[in-house]
Amino acid sequence: MSKLRAERLYKVFGRRPDEAVAKLEGGTDRENLRAEGTTAAVIDASFDVEAGQIFVVMGLSGSGKSTLLRMLNGLLEPTAGRVHFDGHDLTGLEPRDLRQVRSHKISMVFQHFALFPHRSVLENAAYGLEVQGVPRKERFQRATEALELVGLGGWESSWPDELSGGMQQRVGLARALATDADLLLMDESFSALDPLIRRDMQDQLLQLQKRLKKTIVFITHDLNEAMRLGDRIAVMRDGRIVQIGSAEDILVTPANDYVASFIQDVDRSRVLTAGAIMTDPAEALGTTTDDGTTLRTERDVLDAAPATVTEDTPIIELFTPCSRSGVAVAVTDDNGSLVGVVSRARLLAALGEPGTGPDGAKPTSPGEPDAPESGKKVIADA
Ligand SMILES: Nc1ncnc2c1ncn2[C@@H]1O[C@H](COP(=O)(O)OP(=O)(O)OP(=O)(O)O)[C@@H](O)[C@H]1O
Ligand SMILES: [Mg+2]
Repeated sequence: MSKLRAERLYKVFGRRPDEAVAKLEGGTDRENLRAEGTTAAVIDASFDVEAGQIFVVMGLSGSGKSTLLRMLNGLLEPTAGRVHFDGHDLTGLEPRDLRQVRSHKISMVFQHFALFPHRSVLENAAYGLEVQGVPRKERFQRATEALELVGLGGWESSWPDELSGGMQQRVGLARALATDADLLLMDESFSALDPLIRRDMQDQLLQLQKRLKKTIVFITHDLNEAMRLGDRIAVMRDGRIVQIGSAEDILVTPANDYVASFIQDVDRSRVLTAGAIMTDPAEALGTTTDDGTTLRTERDVLDAAPATVTEDTPIIELFTPCSRSGVAVAVTDDNGSLVGVVSRARLLAALGEPGTGPDGAKPTSPGEPDAPESGKKVIADA
């Protein structure tokens, strides 16, 4: 059973929301409802998040991300549908029980994290525990540990205005971590930060996640952030989830033109992995190396490869080895067994470069070498 499950969630703001849900189910679209003064913020959203996963919800402004998130912790009551968390049906809980779950098991980190200006960093980090009624000594100890985790050890007695924006955001993260909540809900938590600091925070979150294995729902309108962080990504448009998948699923097989246009500017070299583009090891057999030896066995392929990588290696790391040698890069599993190869031609084709696909396919739109269709075509041929 998944940790968190959203089941056909709807949230309608305005008059007669139940009628609006019925209309939406009957095929009425969001625009028609808006003409009647009703906003369908979230329409028929369903998904599962496994324990330990980072689930990213991505979409343009107004697509319903924050509304969806607020239904997940019961801050907003769904107009229809259910939220299951840790075996509880949150939508059916009494307000008191819901508050209990929300304060102990779920933490939220917002975009503009409001720290209390007249409380020290430590007191700010301990705030969630204070709300839970944890005794002073214990909450300060746990908050100190959480600050240490986010790299703010030593700043406990500073004041918020002595910290940079990125550091303040980390206090917010520490506050969420200190409560020991299993589920972190992060709404545009890094969006207000400068690009470099933002990247840093993303790295730090991924590092922390390796150790803490929380279940995280992370909201962003930034596709590159979504691709970096998300084990799975849901793309929202006008209140509906239009695709759910891994970064690679979305990049390689966008569900529709909307998603395809959304992903046009993504840096494929950092998202696609060797595992996604590798071909059968047999393809490397018969290759001749620079010194004239012909590769006849898988052992030969492994020995001659300019590099050996694992399936999760981003393809950006394959450029240098592929440019040095005419022999394919070897892809091995955890036991060191050969599971695939990536040739230079394959690498270039995966990036959607014109005319380099295995079948010499031309990209569908010559003006856009990165058009998703060309990448999709090439990968689908694998
Ligand atoms: N309390 C409310 N009352 C009425 N309409 C609302 C309310 N909250 C949100 N909406 C509307 O619901 C839609 C979705 O809003 P939401 O805040 O969920 O979008 P979002 O994807 O989080 O956008 P952003 O990226 O700008 O934060 C918008 O049209 C918004 O105006
Ligand atoms: Mg929002």
